[in-house]
Amino acid sequence: MKVLVIGPGGREHAIVRALLADPFVSEVHAAPGNAGIAQVVPVHSINANDPAAVTELARSLGSDLVVVGPEAPLAAGVADALIEAGIPVFGPTKAAAQLEASKAFAKQIMAAAGVPTAMAKVASTADEAAEALDAFGAPYVVKDDGLAAGKGVVVTSDRDAALEHAQACFDAGGTVVIEEYLDGPEVSLFVLSDGSTVVPLAPAQDFKRIFDNDEGPNTGGMGAYSPLEWVPAGLVDEVIERVAQPTIDEMARRGTPFTGVLYCGLALTSRGLRVIEFNARFGDPETQAVLARLKTPLGGVLLAAAKGELATIDNLHWASETAVAVVLASANYPDTPRTGDPIRGLEEAEALDGVHVLHAGTALNGDGAVVSSGGRVLAVVGLGADLAEARDKAYDGVSRLALEGGQYRTDIAARAARGEIVVSAGSEA
Ligand code: AMP
Ligand code: GLY
Repeated sequence: MKVLVIGPGGREHAIVRALLADPFVSEVHAAPGNAGIAQVVPVHSINANDPAAVTELARSLGSDLVVVGPEAPLAAGVADALIEAGIPVFGPTKAAAQLEASKAFAKQIMAAAGVPTAMAKVASTADEAAEALDAFGAPYVVKDDGLAAGKGVVVTSDRDAALEHAQACFDAGGTVVIEEYLDGPEVSLFVLSDGSTVVPLAPAQDFKRIFDNDEGPNTGGMGAYSPLEWVPAGLVDEVIERVAQPTIDEMARRGTPFTGVLYCGLALTSRGLRVIEFNARFGDPETQAVLARLKTPLGGVLLAAAKGELATIDNLHWASETAVAVVLASANYPDTPRTGDPIRGLEEAEALDGVHVLHAGTALNGDGAVVSSGGRVLAVVGLGADLAEARDKAYDGVSRLALEGGQYRTDIAARAARGEIVVSAGSEA
């Protein structure tokens, strides 16, 4: 099977790496990829958000499957164009990708499907925003109603800061969703769907804030680990039963079936399970940790989803080890990241036992050296017998790397490794 992977990031490098380990996959191509992906497969510099360009490339390569990584090509209708051309695609249509592209749409689907989520109000003026903030009280949660790469959300106890964020979204021509605050630990669960059948991957946890101890602004994600020893037994079944299957069924009922990954961003609150958000794609950097443990060949699973045949696949197999992914980001991320800085130590980090390095914002400069080209630059993945060992390996890898001004969190998976994450027994509401 020949597979084309669309996207430029660490998530796509993880997908490419998993596909290369699949004995049924004969050829992998990527577009546009990055410097790390280009070391392992041919890359094609097309505009990945252009449905016609992606379809043309897939056709010329004779791709049996196209896997779309990021949200932007999905929202632009890349999957629709591939379906139209008769090429199997893993990733939702533009209509189904609204589950991520519009938070207001996601709330409507959840309401219709009876999926537990935070109470929310849509606001399009400063007065409406103020009213909604006061209705829910502090801490305040204000979300840009559109794609914002995880950075459109402000959670604050400062009412003025909450209003300011809402105003900035209005000034940019948008609306906001204001929500009740959800307490409790967060879980990312990726659920594969072929439009009707759902298959969960292993739960992961993401670290959204830029600094240790969850301080500073939100980012796309600074690290992740999987699996989660501390989640209640039965959590995955509960998410399938109460969240994923009802959502997939509701999308099918509306004539916009969802094929691809339904990323369920969840909070395990004191009042029970709640959806924080849906995404219509694999998470980054959770995928780097999750796929590091997947033993089942990935290509066949994604093809089965694309073809509506998920009900026919065997149970997924997972390595017993734990995976920790630590992101190395560039200077000044998540603001305007500085780019063009050389990265050293890649080979040394890769050579460590149980460590691999996945590229995100990397490129080759004129001299053929690997340099930073985006906000999140690399993810170092460590696999170990337990969380402590996986962390040691990932951070050993990070210590071999040099990127001027580079930033990384030192506490990825640290609280879980110390056994400090507590899920309060949520009485259901
Ligand atoms: P989102 O883009 O919706 O995933 O939000 C980004 C991050 O903001 C989430 O991962 C949470 O950490 C935080 N967040 C979003 N919504 C809420 C909420 N209702 N209550 C508490 N934290 C939230
Ligand atoms: N890691 C969060 C996301 O992919 O949206």
